[in-house]
Amino acid sequence: MPKVAPSILAADFSRLGDEVRRIGEAGADYIHIDVMDGVFVPNITVGPQVVRDLRQCSSLPFISHLMITHPENHIDSFAKSGSDIIEIHLEAEQKDVRETLGMIRAKGCKAALAVNPPTAIEHSFEYFEDIDLLLVMSVNPGFGGQSFIPEVLAKIPAAKQELARRGLSIPIEIDGGINGETGILAAEAGADILAAGTYLFKSPRPADAIRMLKAARPGSKD
Ligand code: DX5
Ligand code: ZN
Repeated sequence: MPKVAPSILAADFSRLGDEVRRIGEAGADYIHIDVMDGVFVPNITVGPQVVRDLRQCSSLPFISHLMITHPENHIDSFAKSGSDIIEIHLEAEQKDVRETLGMIRAKGCKAALAVNPPTAIEHSFEYFEDIDLLLVMSVNPGFGGQSFIPEVLAKIPAAKQELARRGLSIPIEIDGGINGETGILAAEAGADILAAGTYLFKSPRPADAIRMLKAARPGSKD
């Protein structure tokens, strides 16, 4: 049964604290916070100050998804602001991916590596011992409300197979265009955490939408 991580990018930013409380009451397992710098991706969102202030609004684990260049310069501030999991991109310009992942763990947070749709999943394998979670992007990062890219689904069993070969078992999160239908495809492929923005924050009944995603399991679309 997959866990659900609402992505606040789709929330009403004029009432972000209330939105985080509301989605938590609707059954969220994590809060997924999209951090964008306008360089690694063409959009700009929030920084550690927002994570720090939202920390007062929820006891759920915070995932800070850093879609930024040189993430190594910001690990300390996102760790101090209350992130539980910090996700960096394999594709982001940085001194050294393994060093950045080590910094995240050294700060007491869980380290996660994100892989964009065009990136072959095999490029992430060498970091499997350095991460606590793998993020498979199902949209090209930068904006919410985009269409799910089904070609990325094959990355999940491939990653699970390589993890097993290495005697590892870490959760795989999928992020982008997740809804009632694509959530089932992702769960069938083996995704453990479904990050969803539009589907949850724009839903008139978010608790039902979260229940739908949690019920997503192999064969459940029949
Ligand atoms: C995209 C972000 C995603 C996005 C998900 O760059 O990383 O978390 O906000 O939003 P939806 O579910 O609307 O695609
Ligand atoms: Zn995200």
